Amino acid sequence: MRVVVLISGRGSNLGALLRAMERGRLAPAKIVGVGSDKESAAGLERARQAEIDTQVFPRDWVRGLEGFLDRLRPDLVCLAGFMRILPPSIIEKMEGRILNIHPSLLPAFPGLQVHQRVLDAGMEISGCTVHWVDEGVDTGSVVGQIMVAVKEEDTAQSLGARVLEAEHRLYPRIVQTIASEFKGEKNE
Ligand code: GRF
Repeated sequence: MRVVVLISGRGSNLGALLRAMERGRLAPAKIVGVGSDKESAAGLERARQAEIDTQVFPRDWVRGLEGFLDRLRPDLVCLAGFMRILPPSIIEKMEGRILNIHPSLLPAFPGLQVHQRVLDAGMEISGCTVHWVDEGVDTGSVVGQIMVAVKEEDTAQSLGARVLEAEHRLYPRIVQTIASEFKGEKNE
């Protein structure tokens, strides 16, 4: 199962996926490409070190991404901190084969500045979610979640760090599960 990962920044979830692949824990999924709308995305370097095909699409990012997907023909696209909303043309083309990871227990707390909003709301539980991408923002159906307890003394930073650790466990697990059920039906 061919996987393309899209990033815009740090790329720690990409790192977790690459680590899982290197340890043989993603098979039969294989990361075949990493795309970014930002040249400065730190995760690109990690992908290059792993000798993965990388591409940056800075200006007309939609056309750039369409070309990248046409060239690599992924079976699955994983958004991992990709800070753009995909246009309907790409969502339709990939027909329910795009995943995203979000640092809250969706449908609670979609959008940005999640951890501060979780603390402000007095939540006792937070976590992370992997979900299918539809045309909304953080709205598609949930594939998997990990809960993280909120501590009294938490700041947005400390809570965010624990949620991120959970993300790094969740995303590879979900991709591996999807890959193990993949029959190769779409891209043959
Ligand atoms: C993660 O918290 C992810 O849930 C959100 O963006 C962040 C990306 O972090 N969508 P990284 O680039 O994977 O380190």
